[in-house]
Amino acid sequence: MAIPHPIDWTADGAVRILDQTLLPDAERYLDLDTVDAVAEAIRTLRVRGAPLIGIAAAMGLTLAVRGGSASLDAVCAASRLLGATRPTAVNLHWALARMERRASLAVAAGDNLAQALRQEADAIWDEDRAMCARIGAAGAALIGGDALILTHCNAGALATGGMGTALAPVYTLHQAGRRVAVVADETRPLLQGSRLTAWELTRAGVPVTVITDNMAASRLRRGDITCVIVGADRIAANGDVANKIGTYGLALAARAHGVPFYVAAPTSTVDSATPDGGHIPIEERAAAEVAGWRGHPAAPPEATVWNPAFDVTPGELVTAIITDRGVFAPRDVAGPA
Ligand code: MRU
Repeated sequence: MAIPHPIDWTADGAVRILDQTLLPDAERYLDLDTVDAVAEAIRTLRVRGAPLIGIAAAMGLTLAVRGGSASLDAVCAASRLLGATRPTAVNLHWALARMERRASLAVAAGDNLAQALRQEADAIWDEDRAMCARIGAAGAALIGGDALILTHCNAGALATGGMGTALAPVYTLHQAGRRVAVVADETRPLLQGSRLTAWELTRAGVPVTVITDNMAASRLRRGDITCVIVGADRIAANGDVANKIGTYGLALAARAHGVPFYVAAPTSTVDSATPDGGHIPIEERAAAEVAGWRGHPAAPPEATVWNPAFDVTPGELVTAIITDRGVFAPRDVAGPA
């Protein structure tokens, strides 16, 4: 099964990324050798998906000390720059906080800062790969067999350091020889569903049907969808879930048609410091993303545009959250307060 690898190190310690803005037209890799270049790649969605943003930021932070001479102050300044790229995915801030902690400990102990940060970035990546595999196993056990799964955006290998979150149960069932297929929402405005989810599933040999977002409710009414599985950018302490804009509407439609609505996410996406979805910062992106597509106008220039990149689905609409620690009711996912 061919699962893409959206990030890697180069031999000399730069960060190699698959430029996801070019998919599915071109599979092009970029070598990033400055913190600024990594920040630009995150901001412009060349690398995207909550867990992968965290991994990319951790790897990017190592570039601040690549020459070997940089100080803790330089690490903190680079961390602030990377942390300001996208507000919603908590994995970004989680990974950077972890890197800063490791840097402080290394400096206090007189250890090699560059080596310590490289080890920590590798650990974050390795742990994410393992968490994806555990989410896959837990989700596959929950679904239990052949399935037609509806998903939104891309929460697959392209969004993580491993086999994905929402797509991990799909890959796990497929590998186990089950008949599993996916219906992928196109995911306006940036088409992560049709460009990315459909791309990685077809490469892996998993059948996929692409629909536009406004077809999802009709498809759920048809009665052939086993369950909906989506990823998450942040899960608040009460189980409210921020994910790609359109997730909330999909959850409402799934509830109306009695279809289970699952969220799949690693522990690094659970933010127990945020009490509920109302406190999750929602990124608003440029009007041009809605008003046009790759230079072609889709709205008159006089029209006003609203472009929130994420929405919040109340925990009550979520059947269960599939994590690397098992399957939880939304209100229980953050553990005791
Ligand atoms: O704007 P994006 O493409 O970074 O949004 C990605 C999503 O909303 C994903 O569903 C989420 O990050 C989970 S990825 C495992």
